[in-house]
Amino acid sequence: MHKPITKDDLMNLARKWQESRVFLAACELDIFSHLSEFKSSGELAEELKVKERYLDRLLNTLVVLGLLEKRDGRFKNTDAANTYLDKKSRDYLLGLTHQCHVFYGWSLLTDVVKNGIPSRELGFGKPIENWLEPFITAMQQYASERAPKLIDLIDFSNCKKFLDLGGGSGANSVEVARRYPDIDVFIFDLTDVIPITKKFVSKAGDFKNIHYIEGDYLKDSIGEGYDVILLSNIIHAHGKDEVIKIFKRCNNALKDKGRIIIHDFLVNEDRVSPPWSVFFAINMLVHTKNGDTYTEREIREFFKEANFSFVSNTPTGFNSDVIVGVKN
Ligand SMILES: C[S@@+](CC[C@H](N)C(=O)[O-])C[C@H]1O[C@@H](n2cnc3c(N)ncnc32)[C@H](O)[C@@H]1O
Repeated sequence: MHKPITKDDLMNLARKWQESRVFLAACELDIFSHLSEFKSSGELAEELKVKERYLDRLLNTLVVLGLLEKRDGRFKNTDAANTYLDKKSRDYLLGLTHQCHVFYGWSLLTDVVKNGIPSRELGFGKPIENWLEPFITAMQQYASERAPKLIDLIDFSNCKKFLDLGGGSGANSVEVARRYPDIDVFIFDLTDVIPITKKFVSKAGDFKNIHYIEGDYLKDSIGEGYDVILLSNIIHAHGKDEVIKIFKRCNNALKDKGRIIIHDFLVNEDRVSPPWSVFFAINMLVHTKNGDTYTEREIREFFKEANFSFVSNTPTGFNSDVIVGVKN
């Protein structure tokens, strides 16, 4: 149960975006990569080629947020900012540039709902250039931290040929290839994405059992003879008809009794829980034509249409579920 909401709560809710906006502006200006030591706003303004007064006011808000400390009128990163926000740090949060881009789509949410089209089709707002690499990089950050747990939940017994459909940065495939050197791992993704995938995979190691296929999984061949196909964070970008089409294509590409594994953010039947999935549905309204978060019942229906039997649904513990189907 929510506690009663007051007038002040409502005003605070209306202003909540300000903290995020300040933080994202600081990330876009790359302020944290320049403040591992104390600098005045004038010194930093010169380095960043911006006006001192504007920068100074922004730096003051970052102190309020606990991201900078201020001493004798000079500013420096706090420990958290040094660790996660300085691009030179090993632990730099790779997904930040993508979040900066996501903001511009969300800022058009009213018009997205009014017009029933995603933000990029509205024809106004800030055009995002070079979004692909930051997007795949954000996926790498998210997936690489979760891949060990995700792959733990998947049964690879008797699997010789595995397909990671829309494999993105390849983080899940790397985990499979490392654990099971005898499995041939295929990563399928768009032509523009595969070079980025290769960069991330080669950083992770020299995997002789990882192979790449470039194409569009809605129309190009995705290969054949697979024992297991993983669709990790794929179906939420598509409407019902496309999901069924993708499932049917997977069914054709699997061996008899082959398994399809859906890893995604599921929403409950009430569609108001869990909160992550409810908000993720808005992300899909803003950024895709027909994408959505789905219920288990809907996925079971899509399985039926594509000639799969439902086997199991296991929560991962990180806002997502792993749903397994077997080819009939
Ligand atoms: C949200 S990311 C998920 C990446 C990865 N599976 C993971 O869990 O980290 C979706 C991926 O699907 C790919 N993708 C989207 N549409 C595609 C299409 N029509 N054909 C092939 N790949 C596609 C994107 O390029 C991206 O790498």
